[in-house]
Amino acid sequence: MMLKTGVLFKYKDFLPVTPQTPLFTLGEGDTPLIRCDRLAREIGCGELHLKFEGCNPTGSFKDRGMVVAVAKALEAGSNALICASTGNTSASAAAYAAYCGLTAIIIVPEGKIALGKMAQAIIYGAKIITITGNFDQALEIVRTLVEKHPVTLVNSLNPHRIEGQKTAAFEIIEILGDAPDYLFIPVGNAGNITAYWQGFVESCQSGRSKQKPVIMGFQAEGAAPIVRGHPVAKPETVATAIRIGNPASWQQAEAARDESGGIIDLVSDAEILAAQKLMATRTGVFSEPASAASIAGLIKLSRQGMDFSRKRIACVITGTGLKDTDTALKDAPPFLELPADIKAVEKALGWG
Ligand code: F0G
Repeated sequence: MMLKTGVLFKYKDFLPVTPQTPLFTLGEGDTPLIRCDRLAREIGCGELHLKFEGCNPTGSFKDRGMVVAVAKALEAGSNALICASTGNTSASAAAYAAYCGLTAIIIVPEGKIALGKMAQAIIYGAKIITITGNFDQALEIVRTLVEKHPVTLVNSLNPHRIEGQKTAAFEIIEILGDAPDYLFIPVGNAGNITAYWQGFVESCQSGRSKQKPVIMGFQAEGAAPIVRGHPVAKPETVATAIRIGNPASWQQAEAARDESGGIIDLVSDAEILAAQKLMATRTGVFSEPASAASIAGLIKLSRQGMDFSRKRIACVITGTGLKDTDTALKDAPPFLELPADIKAVEKALGWG
């Protein structure tokens, strides 16, 4: 049967796919680009589009890169994958490993992973190790392990991950007809900003787009090594997905920033949570906190006086909020609790 959908099939000419590469899909890619006029007006930008990567099979953008990394691992004869993760990479690795009959070993910081992401790794059958340390320490361990043991690294240091993730830039161009003026994106380990920039550059070089976007990356205030210019030993943020103090693709992120004429800035946890809520109430898109760093950054710069009124903006919404309902429910107002009585309900709604 011919595969008609999925990153590997749709973009095989742009990926390191050989006749020996197995082609398969869990349905990754082809995520919606949602035009949000109401939120655009409120923020003060010309056109606003959300690239909602929460619609991928495991709920984050990681699946685009994972399908390529796992296909190449199979091609090379590997039977085990390993990654350090703040939760989404591990969920994705575990799912693709399950599909392909491979072992997934995941190393995650204890107590700092959103519950939905842990549930995914558990149900997909990964070998899970939690460490009393942070993501950066987990990645250090993984990097050493892959030197010594026959296991494939599927963090974004694996170049096939970046190749797969660049396809999101292709999709934005396919829908808009060209690259947007600005791309806002959260930055953690800095693989995704690297991948988008590569995707936009390649599209421009091959004539599929006329322009490249200005890349606007955002880190969380308590985990902003690139902004501060040095690693952060003890990163802290409510946006646990980007709780990273020493990003692996640091230099590539700076290159994306500098070559595009963009910036990498920071947003506070309060700004992230306010943006997450604003996005949800104005667009119906429920993202996880880390994903809202892109919208929070746009709001911050707009308030500082940057003029986006004639600009077309794409914000990458990297993952679904359903994995981290604890944070969403945290300061929720109490519900109305009533007896099962129509009169009581009408009265409460002001219709009585
Ligand atoms: N948004 C979400 C939802 C993420 O899970 C991540 C990274 C990022 C943004 C940042 O992307 O690392 O490419 O700069 N999550 C990794 C993980 C670290 O282990 O799931 P990045």
